[in-house]
Amino acid sequence: MPELNLDKILASLDLRISEVKQLEEFESISKDYLGKGSLLSDERKKLANLSIEDKKSYGKKLTELAKKIESKIDTSRNEFIIKTFQQKEKNELTDITIDWNRNEGSYKHILSSVMDEVVSIFSSIGYEVAFGPEAETSWHNFDALNTPEWHPARYESDTIYLDANLETLLRTQTSTVQIRHMEQKDPPVYIVAPGRVFRSDQLDATHSPVFHQLEGLAIDKDLTFTDLKGTLEYFTKEFFGENVETKFIPHFFPFTEPSAEVLVKWQDGSWLEILGCGMVDPNVLENVGYSKDYKGFAWGVGIERLAMLRYQIDHIKNFYDNDIRFLEQF
Ligand code: DAH
Repeated sequence: MPELNLDKILASLDLRISEVKQLEEFESISKDYLGKGSLLSDERKKLANLSIEDKKSYGKKLTELAKKIESKIDTSRNEFIIKTFQQKEKNELTDITIDWNRNEGSYKHILSSVMDEVVSIFSSIGYEVAFGPEAETSWHNFDALNTPEWHPARYESDTIYLDANLETLLRTQTSTVQIRHMEQKDPPVYIVAPGRVFRSDQLDATHSPVFHQLEGLAIDKDLTFTDLKGTLEYFTKEFFGENVETKFIPHFFPFTEPSAEVLVKWQDGSWLEILGCGMVDPNVLENVGYSKDYKGFAWGVGIERLAMLRYQIDHIKNFYDNDIRFLEQF
């Protein structure tokens, strides 16, 4: 009597099972090994032609084989399910969580830490910190800063007004805090004012419609342009290092006279403007009711520019994208 090689069948079943990639494959395995047309069912058909003895013993063997096959498929199917879920759990764990453990807690955004550093450079030489609102009156943003109604700076496209009468706006500069502070306090004044400013500028590599400035104002009895120069040179050296090269070039600002821009020499030899400055225009001091015995200097420095220069960041939008791969580098 030609008997089926039971061991071979079980071995081939093991092989099939080891190759399973999808849960549904177990169903076709079960069909192939136990269903109609399987070796097993063909063998069963042959039982009819055997003697009673052989029928009994071979029949028993075939039943045992069927049971073995069935339980093998069953167990493997369960193991497959468990394994799939464990794998899925593992994948999801790496997918949906950030590896916070690598960083010890939270940390400051690069712009905040540069701002803090700039503030602390000035506070170490006696400047106090002052703040003003982001939604401002045209008086604080323009008129009081010697920028009267007819002045082109008021109507240039880089201004975002909040009312139809053009009386309130998102401040275009932190110079507003000069006015707010002097309206409240008597001289002498030594303040820095960190903050956010708004312009309807198009985004490009070095401009953004929202950016950060630090305003500075010093008002006292005997301040001269030399004090302004000394103060800002001290700052650039503290921030960029002793060897930084700076240059002052003449410029125009309505609220200072004379006015200048400070440029910093970059590694490739080019110069980048980082701030505007000047001796406070007497009209500004008059607007806040200060006596003629006082004069002083002021400046406004762009925080994004400072950070871009120091860390060689090529596009300003990196600061605002909140891409963790960028932020983590600082
Ligand atoms: N407010 C100017 C700006 O946003 C920068 C500036 C220039 C500030 C000269 C000053 C200054 O205090 O004296 O472009």
